[in-house]
Amino acid sequence: MTFQALRGTSDLLAGELARWEAVERTVRRLARRYGYQELRTPVIEDAALFSRSVGETSNIVQKEMFRFEDRGGREIVLRPEGTAAVVRAYLEHHLHKTQGFAKLFYLGPMFRAERPQAGRMRQFHQFGVEAVGSSSPWLDAEVITLCLEMLKACGLTDASLLLASMGCRADQAKSAERLRKRLAPHRAELCKDCQSRFDKNVFRVLDCKNPTCREIVWSEKRSPFVLCAECEAHFAQVKRALADVGIAFNESAVFARGLDYYTRTVFEVRSSRLGAQDAVTAGGRYDHLVKELGGPDVGAIGFAAGIERLLMAVHGGTPSDAADDHRAGIYVAVARPDLLAGGFSLVQRLRRRGVTALMDYEGRSLKAQFREADDARCQWVAILGEQELKTQSVTVKDLAQGSQRTIALDAFVEEAAQGVKAACHR
Ligand code: HAM
Repeated sequence: MTFQALRGTSDLLAGELARWEAVERTVRRLARRYGYQELRTPVIEDAALFSRSVGETSNIVQKEMFRFEDRGGREIVLRPEGTAAVVRAYLEHHLHKTQGFAKLFYLGPMFRAERPQAGRMRQFHQFGVEAVGSSSPWLDAEVITLCLEMLKACGLTDASLLLASMGCRADQAKSAERLRKRLAPHRAELCKDCQSRFDKNVFRVLDCKNPTCREIVWSEKRSPFVLCAECEAHFAQVKRALADVGIAFNESAVFARGLDYYTRTVFEVRSSRLGAQDAVTAGGRYDHLVKELGGPDVGAIGFAAGIERLLMAVHGGTPSDAADDHRAGIYVAVARPDLLAGGFSLVQRLRRRGVTALMDYEGRSLKAQFREADDARCQWVAILGEQELKTQSVTVKDLAQGSQRTIALDAFVEEAAQGVKAACHR
C-alpha cells in the first residue's frame, strides 16, 4: 500500500524550497523596514471566530472550512485565513491596551476545502500584514505600497493593482438595498445559494462562481457601492497618497471581496501570468472587526498574498533547480572505510566553525564520493588518505576550478571558517 499527499496539498522539496526561503526572507526584511513585527498564530482556531468575522454567508464559512469536533465537543477549524486570527491575538494579548496601534505580519499555511485547480489549493500559504488600531488613509497607502514592494522584490514584474472603496457600514446598507433592487427582477434565475444570500447578505451574490449568477451580477460594470462624503474623502486621500509615491492603480474595475469584514478601501493585485485564479494578493480595511470581536472601536487594514500563486507568476511553472550552478561547502572524502573516524571528526570541526560540510558514511569508493560531492554542488572535496592522516594534513580539490593542493589540517579548518566569516560580511 502506498500513500500520496492529499488532493490540493503538496510537498515542497529542497530545490523548490530555495524559492520559498527567498520569499520569506524578502517579506521579513521589507516588513521590518516598514515597522511591522512578526506574529505566529496557531493553525487551529475556534470555528466561531471565522463565522463571526469572515461571515456566516461567505463561501469560506459555508463551504470551504475544514471543521472537526474535538474531544470536548468544541467546533474547531483549520484556519482558512489570517486576519481574524491576528485580531483575536491582538485582543487576547491586550495589544490594544499596551500598544494601541500594532503593525503585524505573518507567514504560514491556510486551509480551504475548495475544488483544486492551478493556483487553487486546499493547503496554501500566505504572507500578510495587518495594521490594527488606526483609520488613517495614510495607513491604507502604506499597506498597499508595502504590498507592491514585497511582490516586486519577490520578482513579480507585472503586478496590476485594482482599487475600490466599499464605504462604511451605513453606505453598505444603502448599497445592499440598491443591489437588491437591481437583482430583484432576476431573482428566480439566481442559483439556490444566491436566492438565500439575496435576503441574508446580498453582497455574497457578488462572489458566486455560477456562470448565470455572474452574468446577472456583473452585467453592469459600475461598482455596486455608493459612498458617503466622509468615505469619498477617505478614498480620495488614499488615491492621492498612492499617486504621490508613484503607484499606478485601476479604479474602474469592479471586483468582489468574498469576506464580510471589509469596509472602505479594498484592493487586489493581479498578474497576467496566472490563469483564472489571477489574484496574487488581496486586502482591505476592516474598521469594525476589532469591535465585533470584543475590542475597542478602532480601524484596521491589511492584505494577504498567496505564495504558491506568487511563485507561479514569477517562475511560470519552471522547475526550480534548473541551471543553478552555484557551488558551496566542503565534501570530506575518505580513501578507505577505516578512515571514517578521521573524516567524521573533520566534518564536525568544520560544521562547528560554521562551514557546510558533508561526507559519506557507507564506505563507498573515492570515485563515488566525488560523484556525490558534485551532485550536492559542493565546491571543495577534502580528501583524507593514509598519508594525510600521518602528516595531519588534507588534500583539497576545488571542483569549480579543478586545482588541487595539500594543506595542514588545522590551517585548512581555519581557512574555511575565515572564508565563511568573510562571506557573511560581504
Ligand atoms: P483572500 O482573498 O481570501 O483574502 O486571500 C488572499 C490571497 O490568498 C489570494 O489573493 C490568493 O493569492 C491566496 N489564496 C486564497 N485562496 C487560495 C487557494 N485556495 N489556493 C491558493 N491561494 C489562495 C484573505 O485571506 C484576507 N485575509 C486578506 C486580508 C488581510 N484582508 C485584510 N487583511
